[in-house]
Amino acid sequence: SGINPRWYPRYHLAARAGWMNDPNGLVWFDGWYHAFYQHHPYSIKWGPMHWGHARSKDLVHWEHLPVALAPEGPADKDGCFSGSAVVDGDTLALIYTGHKFHGSVDTDDNLYQVQCLATSRDGIHFERHGMVIDTPPGLHHFRDPKVWREGEYWYMVVGSRVENTGQVRLYRSTDLREWHDEGILAEAEDDMGYMWECPDFFTLGGKRVLMFSPQGLAAEGYKNRNLFQSGYLLGEWQSGQPFSHDGQFIEMDNGHDFYAPQSFLSPDGRRIVIGWLDMWESPLPEQQDGWAGMLSLPRELSLGDNNCVLIKPAAEVTALRGNYYPAPAHNLNNQKIFVASDADAVEVLLTWERNASTAEQYGIALGEGLSIYVDNQAQRLVVDRRYPEFSLEGTRSIALPADSTLSLRIFIDRSSVEVFVNEGEACLSSRIYPQPGQRDLILFANHGTATLKDAGYWSLNK
Ligand code: FRU
Repeated sequence: SGINPRWYPRYHLAARAGWMNDPNGLVWFDGWYHAFYQHHPYSIKWGPMHWGHARSKDLVHWEHLPVALAPEGPADKDGCFSGSAVVDGDTLALIYTGHKFHGSVDTDDNLYQVQCLATSRDGIHFERHGMVIDTPPGLHHFRDPKVWREGEYWYMVVGSRVENTGQVRLYRSTDLREWHDEGILAEAEDDMGYMWECPDFFTLGGKRVLMFSPQGLAAEGYKNRNLFQSGYLLGEWQSGQPFSHDGQFIEMDNGHDFYAPQSFLSPDGRRIVIGWLDMWESPLPEQQDGWAGMLSLPRELSLGDNNCVLIKPAAEVTALRGNYYPAPAHNLNNQKIFVASDADAVEVLLTWERNASTAEQYGIALGEGLSIYVDNQAQRLVVDRRYPEFSLEGTRSIALPADSTLSLRIFIDRSSVEVFVNEGEACLSSRIYPQPGQRDLILFANHGTATLKDAGYWSLNK
């Protein structure tokens, strides 16, 4: 299409044009990975939701397919909201939220959200079967079904809101059509949000993870992020019981822009997560260019020591690697070192010797707008993003673990950056908007020295 390429991703999935939000229906079916997504094909803004569709053999090279669902049935006249996909024999089933208002004014009081089913044999054309779960009495916000198979049943979690409490409801079925209400699986305690969007519930190692995107939780210290988070609770579960967890909400991603993640199992049993590399408060300057929103890289989850969830780029991502360019120097003494110009699609690898690094700040910058650095005094890893022309200013950061080295894998793709820390300890994702000429990659150490054990970058997707 005629889209301005300056910010359009080279190896992340984005709509060909128009609006994109949540990933939906992530699934492996008949030899292909499928990704659907919340999509408004007719404008750069959110509107009546469609399901955009793409497929891939390897999770990194995507082929666009026709829109899979459009808001046209009695149950979903105002939008086909988020949902999930499962494989049932030779059929691909999509379970999604039908969104509609009764009457002429769109308010919460006349909002109806119900869960709907559509199926396909070829994975491209879908037959709609209408509503399978009606709104429970008294609820209005009731959406984002995630279905999975466990033992002899299908299960579904649905996000909901009761007054100002976010909840996850559980259902059970044998045929994806008749669903039995299993009650409340979990709900917000201690101000954990007024609505829980996009729940997902899966086993990881010996534990159970409830991943969801609460509305009404502010991210500490970042002014553009007052309402939207995504994260998880860790615990144990037995069918017929509520989820028993430790009450600790942990953010899935500590960057500026990440929301509504959904997981799925790869055919070899890995738990992969993809999220929207934006959130509702992101200003989305790419709307000037005729598109909005992109999805994250696929990330593999695992359970580490001390029951912490590790997040690494899925192994498939290395298939993008082209030439490797080692950094020109490993020791910096109060200086800047030029690494590359025009870094628009790269994976950077940096392993810092923390004990040998005394600089007040050391790290890497992309032009004037982005820097990723260690704040030695605060002992934090900081992502500092400054594009004041788009109201994008402010840092996000994480406390650094005590390890003697700090290893970063940094993926830059035109208007995004994803920083993976120490083999899965954390991930920070943000959208970036460099102007032409603002893509020099520079290593730096301020007020002191910094030492790299390993440093270089791959050009990606050439
Ligand atoms: C999350 C969300 C979902 C909803 C969808 C609508 O970002 O608000 O709860 O189904 O987006 O596009």
